[in-house]
Amino acid sequence: MISKPTIARIQDASRIEEVVSDFLTLKKRGINYIACCPFHNEKTPSFNVNPVRNIFKCFGCGKGGDSLSFVMEHEKLTYPEGLRYLAKKYNIEIEEDHNRDIEADKKLETERESLFVVNAYAQKYFSETLYNTNEGKSIGLSYFRERGLSDEIIQRFQLGYAPEGKTIFTDTALKEAYNLDYLVRAGLTIRIESEGNVENKEVKAKIYDRFAGRVMFPIHNITGRVLGFGGRALRKDVKAKYVNSPESEIYHKSNILYGMPFARNAISKGKNCYLVEGYMDVLSMHQSGIENVVASSGTSLTIEQIRLIKRYSDNITIMYDGDPAGIKASFRGIDMILEEGLNVRVVLFPEGEDPDSYARKHSESELRDFINENTTDFIRFKTKIYFDEAKNDPIKKAELIGELAKSIALIEDIPKLSQFVKECSTIMNIDEQSLYSQVNKERGKHIKNLQIEQLRSKINKVASNADESERQQIEENIEKIEREIEWKKRDIQRLEDTLVTASDTLTSEYHEKEMIRLMLLYGNHELEMQTESENPEAVAEVQKIKVAQYIYEHLLVDKISFEHENYKKIYDEYSAFIEAGEPFSLEHFIHHQNPDISNMAIDLTTFPYTVSDWLAKHGIPVPKEEDTLKTTVEYAIYSLKIRQIMKMITETQKQLQEATSDEDIFILIAQQKKLDAAKLLFSKELGGRVVLR
Ligand code: CTP
Ligand code: MN
Repeated sequence: MISKPTIARIQDASRIEEVVSDFLTLKKRGINYIACCPFHNEKTPSFNVNPVRNIFKCFGCGKGGDSLSFVMEHEKLTYPEGLRYLAKKYNIEIEEDHNRDIEADKKLETERESLFVVNAYAQKYFSETLYNTNEGKSIGLSYFRERGLSDEIIQRFQLGYAPEGKTIFTDTALKEAYNLDYLVRAGLTIRIESEGNVENKEVKAKIYDRFAGRVMFPIHNITGRVLGFGGRALRKDVKAKYVNSPESEIYHKSNILYGMPFARNAISKGKNCYLVEGYMDVLSMHQSGIENVVASSGTSLTIEQIRLIKRYSDNITIMYDGDPAGIKASFRGIDMILEEGLNVRVVLFPEGEDPDSYARKHSESELRDFINENTTDFIRFKTKIYFDEAKNDPIKKAELIGELAKSIALIEDIPKLSQFVKECSTIMNIDEQSLYSQVNKERGKHIKNLQIEQLRSKINKVASNADESERQQIEENIEKIEREIEWKKRDIQRLEDTLVTASDTLTSEYHEKEMIRLMLLYGNHELEMQTESENPEAVAEVQKIKVAQYIYEHLLVDKISFEHENYKKIYDEYSAFIEAGEPFSLEHFIHHQNPDISNMAIDLTTFPYTVSDWLAKHGIPVPKEEDTLKTTVEYAIYSLKIRQIMKMITETQKQLQEATSDEDIFILIAQQKKLDAAKLLFSKELGGRVVLR
């Protein structure tokens, strides 16, 4: 046990702002400091550090305390570990109480702590094997030397070597009284249960070292404790180049970044974090003097990893080698980073090179120059990848613009967003205004998804506080809403699928029915539409138009007609009202002399269920169809138009097969191109004003 006077000395020495700033970038605010809270997710800082009172407090999640509680919470340390951490930081010698009960102490050690302990042991063992055994020196160390790593880097990153042989490591660890269960749970040892003859009751477990005959890269948490390992094979004929520790209570590969404890200071100082793919890339960059670098280590980048970086800097520069897989991976990463509100840039290495190979072939200054000259913002990056392909192909170009619009739409900061719209429209040579409208549509979709999520979590919250009878009622309602959400999602999915598979037989009945339903129920509702102007400077005006009129005009320009007899009858009668300028009434159809029509009108306008007021009473707004009418109507128009295009495409293809003269073929191909382009525009513009000709 740590003695009382030592504890007092540690607490006196600890300065909250110094302790916290080892983990977070603090900004001065008056006499206090602020940062984004590491204990909950937030975008605007509400985490306060008060140097005078020597405490921290988050006004967002309510967490607060002193230096010791901060490191305990942040690093998931036990009380004595927290004290040891601070003692080390402030160079305070620890006095132990002599009446220390070793057994009780051991029992107190948490599970997690035991995993840390075996990992720390393994790390030392692998490092010693690397430097102090013949096998380690001749195989492991000479491999690292061959790859150009200095002793300084090998030691800083605690690299090691695991000896060949099935159980050498495990045997040694067991001899040193480490517990087999923990070795297995840390993933250092593999235990295969129930091998052998079960009848015989002599079920023997088999035991192997996970990492035999590999060079070892320990993976550290932010304070430098070992969470797990990556082991690289040295021979080419081995199945897996890398073997990594399995997930455990301390090792979750989706929320760690390789190299973080060695990079974090440089990241906050340099106000930028380089993100590379592999262990070797991190090591080579360090050796070249670039220390603000971490690796996602073969997994695709996760939100947790991005948030980890965000504690130190708002800027990420992704470094990838130029192969298509790497580039694709970077696109997903880019979108996630933008969504977290960070700035993202990209360095693309020449094909076949990665930061490691480039660093090894060039001097430090050449590497720095290369990075400086080849860092581009993400618009330029995506554009560069596609532009050569896309510039002469309008379809590809439209596709690229759609891609870019999707990424730009994720940026929350509006001035930043505008700047990217400007840049993108210049590079792609397209109208700024039309790019804006694509970006806005993407934002709309994005925001809708967020709203659905929010609604879900609100419902769950109310449900968890309700009593038994209420809960049952809520659960019934939740099911209905969830079903509705699912339907909407499936609808969107179906439309998107329709675009992809041209030969699909179209479920036109569904779409026609939906259109008629909307006209019957909401025909007289007014939609607010923004007028579109040629002049980008012009202020958009809001114009009101009835749903029925809006649908009618759209279907008219594109000469869309209904296929199913009863829907066609209703639509034609409806159109007659519109053309005559007469108001429409649902009653007309409900009391129609044709029983088919009246039945259909009743079916379409009566809901199978009503979502009870119950949720509303509890302050949960249940979205009404009226609220999202405009989108619903636009989707409906869109699906009918798409169907029309698909029909025309199929027809053109048929004609093409039958055509004999060159001229016919030429005309048909041109037509097909146009249709393809229209199809594409639809997929980007969902319900936009596209006219088919
Ligand atoms: N990786 C892995 N398992 C594999 C291959 C790769 O876990 N079978 C992870 C490792 O973290 C590796 C990273 O993906 O560092 C990048 O892979 P790669 O570029 O193939 O590895 P390098 O570290 O560059 O290794 P080397 O240069 O030694 O081939
Ligand atoms: Mn490599």
